[in-house]
Amino acid sequence: MAISKKIEKALEGASWIRKMFEEGDKLKRMYGPEKIFDFSLGNPIAEPPGEFFDELRKIANNPIPGMCRYMTNNGYEETRKSIASLLSEETGFSFTERQIIMSTGAAGGLNIALKSILDPGDEVITSCPYFVEYRFYMDNHGGTLKTVDSRDDFSLDLLAIEGAINKKTKAVIINSPNNPTGVVYDKEPLIQLGQILGEKSAKYGRTIFLLCDEAYKRIVYDSVKLPDVFSIYDHCISVISHSKDLSIPGERIGYVAISPSADGKERLADAMTFANRTLGFVNAPALMQRLVGRLTHVSVDISEYQEKRDLFYNGLVDFGYSIVKPMGAFYLFPRCPIDDDVAFVRALQAKNILTAPGRGFGRPGHIRIAYCVERRVIEASLEGFRELAIEYGMR
Ligand SMILES: Cc1ncc(COP(=O)(O)O)c(C=O)c1O
Repeated sequence: MAISKKIEKALEGASWIRKMFEEGDKLKRMYGPEKIFDFSLGNPIAEPPGEFFDELRKIANNPIPGMCRYMTNNGYEETRKSIASLLSEETGFSFTERQIIMSTGAAGGLNIALKSILDPGDEVITSCPYFVEYRFYMDNHGGTLKTVDSRDDFSLDLLAIEGAINKKTKAVIINSPNNPTGVVYDKEPLIQLGQILGEKSAKYGRTIFLLCDEAYKRIVYDSVKLPDVFSIYDHCISVISHSKDLSIPGERIGYVAISPSADGKERLADAMTFANRTLGFVNAPALMQRLVGRLTHVSVDISEYQEKRDLFYNGLVDFGYSIVKPMGAFYLFPRCPIDDDVAFVRALQAKNILTAPGRGFGRPGHIRIAYCVERRVIEASLEGFRELAIEYGMR
């Protein structure tokens, strides 16, 4: 066999999201793209904000000498300074550019963070359902992902997390707003989680990090205010991306912010800078760093996502679907009327509706719907969802 057994196995179990995406592509070629309602991928159709193109034009018209050269592996000082000042403004803590490492999206950020903290055999705990790539990211760096079921409303089961921590635990990773559920964790349970991590770190004599995947940080709805993770626990690492808030996932830009109170923060920053280099990212894309440093207060129009959430959520609930109302990100994670989520995904597919089965996120019996699509796609799909609700006796 030409490739490693490990990768062979990973490919065999190819992600459900990818699988549905590929099947959807086939259906689109057969029936025409306008006849297929594709909610399988979190690839936003929203265009980047006008300010993004304005800044792009400014740079193109006034190129900075050396702007395409290599740079320090943690990124441009100017960009890191403007992000540090944004975080200081948002949190009240004093961040400096030393605590910011520019990364190739949240995916790159999570990988440099994990590479920096994990030794072989270390464990990282996360709440299930969870973003499927975590398992591969842990494995990249010799760690193991340990999952703990969330509660029925997808909030953190703190007792279960506490019970899962042992002497091998190096970090707990939380993702809020969450993919696939859209839930946003409240401040009070996060404070309790911080206390648990503090106690367990003391018990086992080593720092357990709180790794916060904040890829959807700015996509929150109604009057929800995302709790500031730096205020709940000292040893906190936040991973932030512009894939969704500026709608530029193909440009691969984000950053890691290390809490000013984290244990060994200087060494941690050095380690992540080294990891950026040696994992082969070398540095985050230069042009994008210049742009996002100037766009720290800009994001896509969140109200458009909220309108889509309302349209979809209200429509499905009216038909009888059982859903925890998402307060952020752009996913719905309804319960299926039958235990077999793959069978339900297939039933939806027969109505030209593409979704991903919950088992792909560690939680069978649900489906994930990514609604970062055009409004008309949601509207046109509702009839299919209604017909299935009747067929399966949801009302
Ligand atoms: C929860 C979560 N984390 C990380 C990522 C990776 O995002 P990026 O494009 O910034 O690498 C995604 C992408 O969808 C995600 O959903």
